[in-house]
Amino acid sequence: MERENFGSKLGAVLAAAGSAVGLGNVWRFPIETGQNGGAAFIIIYILCILLLGLPIMISEFLIGRHTHANTAGAFRIISNGSPWKWVGRMGVFSGWFILCYYVVVGAWTMHYTFLSATNAFDDVPAQQYEDIFNNFVANPWLPTLWLFLFIGVIHFVITQGVRSGIEKSAKLMMPTLFIITIFLAICSVSLPGASRGIEFLLKPDWSKVTSTTVLDAMGQAFYSLSLAMGCLCTYASYFDKKTPLAKSAVNVATIDTLIAIMAGFIIFPSVFNIGMNPNDVGVGAGLTFVSLPNVFQQALGDGSILAVIFSTLFYFLLFVAALTSAISLHEVATAYVTEEFKMSRKKGATLVTVTILVLGTLCSLSFGPLSNVKLFDRNIFSLFDDFSGRFLLPLGGMLISIFAGWILDRKLYHDEISNNGDLKAPYFKLLVASLRYIAPFAIGLVFLDQLGMFDFIKK
Ligand code: PFF
Repeated sequence: MERENFGSKLGAVLAAAGSAVGLGNVWRFPIETGQNGGAAFIIIYILCILLLGLPIMISEFLIGRHTHANTAGAFRIISNGSPWKWVGRMGVFSGWFILCYYVVVGAWTMHYTFLSATNAFDDVPAQQYEDIFNNFVANPWLPTLWLFLFIGVIHFVITQGVRSGIEKSAKLMMPTLFIITIFLAICSVSLPGASRGIEFLLKPDWSKVTSTTVLDAMGQAFYSLSLAMGCLCTYASYFDKKTPLAKSAVNVATIDTLIAIMAGFIIFPSVFNIGMNPNDVGVGAGLTFVSLPNVFQQALGDGSILAVIFSTLFYFLLFVAALTSAISLHEVATAYVTEEFKMSRKKGATLVTVTILVLGTLCSLSFGPLSNVKLFDRNIFSLFDDFSGRFLLPLGGMLISIFAGWILDRKLYHDEISNNGDLKAPYFKLLVASLRYIAPFAIGLVFLDQLGMFDFIKK
């Protein structure tokens, strides 16, 4: 069967941007920025993207586009079957592994969109939001129901194929996401007291920057750009020979960073508007599902139509962001099984979906009936989250940069990024230098940090 391609350059960039823009942009980046020196953190973050993120993203694009194969196949082909092929296999595994817990949060965003739209937060006392969330996730049925629905949507898109499924949905969802983000940011910024929120987010405070800040920025940049999980390599395998790799990578990183900064404009003006201390809002699920529903109600008028619209759009935005990222993760595994085991797309996708349904349900139930199942002091959800984020992601990133910088043929590299001489690549030397000398070392530090080695040394 002939392999599909994306139909346009725009479609290719939007699909890859869809992978990058996800929960990480909203529930981690803004609060990390606010607490780590505002604009100072943003500058460090952008440097991490320029020096580490882009070189690795371009390398993943290149490996995928050159081989036109799924990530495992791509690394096998480009490494001529040497042990480096394991980097591709690890990427496929990592993508699949992340997806198992990512879908759980995707399901939560659906539930919170529903709650917001039905004005369920009207008249809820501030201290009760935590119970609402805890009771919801501990319920054995409701989160599972949303989970099945969320996975059902992913499955539907994936089975439609690369052009009619992934590309078409990205072309619809990414502009929607952009418009909602801008609308919400404008609303939030026009609230009384908003300027203090903007100041919190943007005022540079270099005194807050420590070595940990830099490591955090690197880790966040990696996660946010969807690196080392096979997604970008898989999507790039559907790029045509004319797609400019470096320019596409810059576009994806720009969209991702802009959305992350705008998410801060949505969150902090509202937080300051109600006089809440931004250090008390929490991060991740605590921020998103406990603090923010309360913040939005109070800032916009409890139970008011404005609060309903704002809150519904916010959770819908999160849903779309999570969905496009989850689709990209599913595609990594689907492309792998269909190509490596010669199955139809439908069969391959179904196989992946079934595994995600089972493991996703286990992750979801780990907040309720399975909360006692623990390993290394973590529930099932945290095991998936921590193992992929702290271990697989930095290890994968490090191996990709070493492979691309030291092993991959330089001429092949140059031919690909210049589209066989059609494009200029004045940044080529810097790119190679980063892949060879900067990225492996820097990511190695993140790796040790994530494993807790520095804490160990400090002790
Ligand atoms: N980049 C996504 C986010 O910021 O939420 C998460 C993600 C998606 C990570 C796909 C890795 C990945 F391969």
